[in-house]
Amino acid sequence: MALKGTKAGEGQAIISLREGVFYNPEMELCRDLSSLCLGAIGGKLSVVDAMCASGIRGLRYRKENRNVKSLALVDTSSRAVSLARRNAKSNKVKCRCARADACEFLRRNEFDFVELDPFGSPAPYLHDAAYSFRTKKAGYLSVTATDMAVLCGAHYAACMKNYGALPLDNEFCHENAVRILAGKVVLTCAPFNFAASPVFTLSHRHYVKMVFRLEWGSQGAVEAIKKLGFAAYCPQCCFREAARIANKEKCPHCSHQLQYAGPLYTGLLWDEPVLKAMLALNAEQGFRRAAQIEKLLRTQLSESKITQYGYYDLHVIAKKTGGTIKSMDAALAALRGAGFAAERTHFCPTALRTSAPHEKFLGLVGK
Ligand SMILES: C[S@@+](CC[C@H](N)C(=O)[O-])C[C@H]1O[C@@H](n2cnc3c(N)ncnc32)[C@H](O)[C@@H]1O
Ligand SMILES: [Zn+2]
Repeated sequence: MALKGTKAGEGQAIISLREGVFYNPEMELCRDLSSLCLGAIGGKLSVVDAMCASGIRGLRYRKENRNVKSLALVDTSSRAVSLARRNAKSNKVKCRCARADACEFLRRNEFDFVELDPFGSPAPYLHDAAYSFRTKKAGYLSVTATDMAVLCGAHYAACMKNYGALPLDNEFCHENAVRILAGKVVLTCAPFNFAASPVFTLSHRHYVKMVFRLEWGSQGAVEAIKKLGFAAYCPQCCFREAARIANKEKCPHCSHQLQYAGPLYTGLLWDEPVLKAMLALNAEQGFRRAAQIEKLLRTQLSESKITQYGYYDLHVIAKKTGGTIKSMDAALAALRGAGFAAERTHFCPTALRTSAPHEKFLGLVGK
């Protein structure tokens, strides 16, 4: 919660803060990356920040990108809307400011880019967000989720209730989390004949952020549904795989009972041209965290090329196999030396992604 009378500067916006209106400076990186993503998408976009609080997110989108043709800032809180209006004026941004429930507003209006940044889970807002694209051939849906304990499997029942999916509390739970969220978005958009596919995915601290491209067409929506499946995991040897149908009971490597997560999205988490365009924009924007963003986007660009489900945490592998913890460089070199792709992952600093099959991975890195 912000203190009365203080100001904050982020990207190209300087905003006033006010007691009772939410502002979290720790989300600056998330706003930097979302703004870069919106800029990278191109086109001419009508944008709604449907849970705007101070307005910082939407105002940054507008100020930092030439492809925002109109902006609406919406919040249920009258304090938030009056602050957002004031911040729009001081930042010389023309926009519509409305005190409204996001769902009601989305049902009555239409936009090219819908931003949902709620407290906790975006799940209750997805249906009306998907409906809001009804007259469009394409659109973008940007969602933040901060209910990580739910998505990562600490609150099993809540995950089933909010996302219709079983979670899995294991070493790649943050990947499961974004894939469960993406699965829910794909499932919610499909009955409106929209195929949803992620163009950008971020897991950072207490939240995940995903931006989806929505494309109209019943066949595409069916194809999107075909990317849903289940993740199998062996808690004994860390075997993992993603499959359309959960049809194995025992681990093919060690015969231990498998655990499952899903249904969840098993497709690509990033669009490579969007990531490259974000990198180019970041070099121009002069953000405070430009160096951190560059490193993160480069990691995502390399990990996006490896499509196997689930990253390997070197600490967990050493513990489970009784081997010594390999350094990241040694593990990457061993895998690459054997002809497999291997890259760091932005999800976890002690983990990597590889194209090596599980047995090969254990042989090269497990002991
Ligand atoms: C996490 S804050 C948004 C933060 C903001 N986007 C930012 O980047 O600083 C969530 C906001 O959603 C608003 N809110 C909660 N439920 C809402 C609803 N149903 N419709 C619109 N706004 C809502 C709250 O008043 C709060 O200001
Ligand atoms: Zn096993």
